[in-house]
Parts: sequence; structure tokens; C-alpha cells
Amino acid sequence: MAAILELRAVKAFYGQSEVLHGIDLAVEEGGMTVLLGANGAGKTTTLRAICGMVRSEGQILFAGRRLERCTTEQIAGFGVAHVPEGRGTFIGLTVEENLRIGAYAATGRPHDNMQLMYGYFPILAQRRRQQAGALSGGEQQMLAIARALMMSPRLLVLDEPSFGLAPRVVEAIFGIVERIRREQHVSVLLVEQNASLALAMADRAYLLETGYVVTSGSAKALADDPQIRRSYLGY
Ligand SMILES: Nc1ncnc2c1ncn2[C@@H]1O[C@H](COP(=O)(O)OP(=O)(O)OP(=O)(O)O)[C@@H](O)[C@H]1O
Ligand SMILES: [Mg+2]
Repeated sequence: MAAILELRAVKAFYGQSEVLHGIDLAVEEGGMTVLLGANGAGKTTTLRAICGMVRSEGQILFAGRRLERCTTEQIAGFGVAHVPEGRGTFIGLTVEENLRIGAYAATGRPHDNMQLMYGYFPILAQRRRQQAGALSGGEQQMLAIARALMMSPRLLVLDEPSFGLAPRVVEAIFGIVERIRREQHVSVLLVEQNASLALAMADRAYLLETGYVVTSGSAKALADDPQIRRSYLGY
């Protein structure tokens, strides 16, 4: 299968400080790639480089386009939807207003995905008139994902969607993301510290350590890797 996203020798910088040291990474069209690594490894920075939010070097190819010189807005307009760490929903707006903003934000075009999203996330339909700030953590994460999907992206980029959530809630959210990937033909790049769940769901996996990819391969191979098992799976 062809890659929808490919990073070749990508470096990223905060000011003078280089935090990614030339990483290679791919997401297959329609597939799910997981990026693992400890705190500070560079996972979020990798997503920021893809989305044009940090200075980078090397090549970032998305659906035949080079992204390195593009603005964050252009990249979103090409079909890359980013759900950042901490979710970034507008807590003072209602659920429905958040979704509507998601539809316009990237492209300035309305998309008619509201009912589709309420289908995948029925709890959001129930809470459509409530302020986002009144939702539980899990519901806010669902809203952030649904909002990103309102623009009909080709690639969904998720930064630790499980953060701070109970295992049962994480499983529910991952289950919905997996269904959306299959049914809506959205490719997914997932950053996770919850390695066992992520590796069970993904097809490819990468392990980052201090700005380097130290291991990569099929998610199955990484799940069977003794070092990964010891360090990230706890058995
Ligand atoms: N805005 C910033 N300015 C300067 N350095 C930063 C900035 N953001 C991150 N860094 C540094 O870049 C490195 C990679 O950070 P990054 O946030 O990408 O890690 P991460 O893998 O996402 O970690 P976590 O699991 O804690 O979210 C770290 O050394 C971090 O201190
Ligand atoms: Mg991070």
C-alpha cells in the first residue's frame, strides 16, 4: 500500500535547539500508525512538524504534496486534522458550536458531517446544547476528535487522546476512532503512551527516544519485541 504521509530525515527545532534529529516515518493510506515514546522523546514535536507549527528540515510528503513550506492553515486545508495535546476545545461554547467551528476552521467551507459525528458519538448529540466545559474529560476528548473530523480530513493526527482518562473510556474512544478509520477511509497517526492498546489497534509503529526513531516495524512485531514489552508494556 502507498503511504499517505511520509517523513524523510526530518529535524525539528525550538529556537537553536534541535529536538528531532532526522526521523523517517510513514502512515499507509487508510492505515493507523502509532508513535510511542517516553516523556520528552519528541512525539508532540513530530506532530507539530507535520502540521507546520515548528521549524523543520527534511521532507514531509502528504498525498503527493510537500508540506515543509506550508502554513498550518494550508496543511489543514489539504486534509490533515490535528487534535493537539490537551484537546483545545472551546470550553465556553456549546458542543454544537465547537463542531460547527471545526467544519469551517480549516477550509472556510461548511461540511455536513454533524449528523455523522452524532452517529459515532451519541453522547455528543445528547449534550449538543451544553457548554464544552461542562463535559467530562472523555466527552471533551470525543468532542475534540469529532471537531477535527468535521472537515472530512484524509489524515487524523491524535496526540495522546487517552491522557488522564479511565481505561474503560479510552477503550471506548479508541473503538470509535478505529470504526471511523475503517468506515470513513481516514488514515490515522496516533501518539500514545498507552502502548498495549495502541499496538493492538495500529498496523505500523515507531518508537522515539530523545529525537531518534530507535525501533520501527509492524505493530505486531513491536508488540512482540522483548525490549518494548519490558519498557512499555510492563510484562
Ligand atoms: N515549546 C518548546 N520550547 C522549547 N523546547 C521544547 C518545547 N516543547 C518541547 N520542547 C522540548 O522538546 C523535546 C521534545 O518534547 P515533546 O513535547 O515533543 O515530547 P513528547 O514526546 O511529546 O513528550 P510527552 O510525552 O511529555 O508529551 C523535549 O526535550 C522538550 O523539553
Ligand atoms: Mg507530547
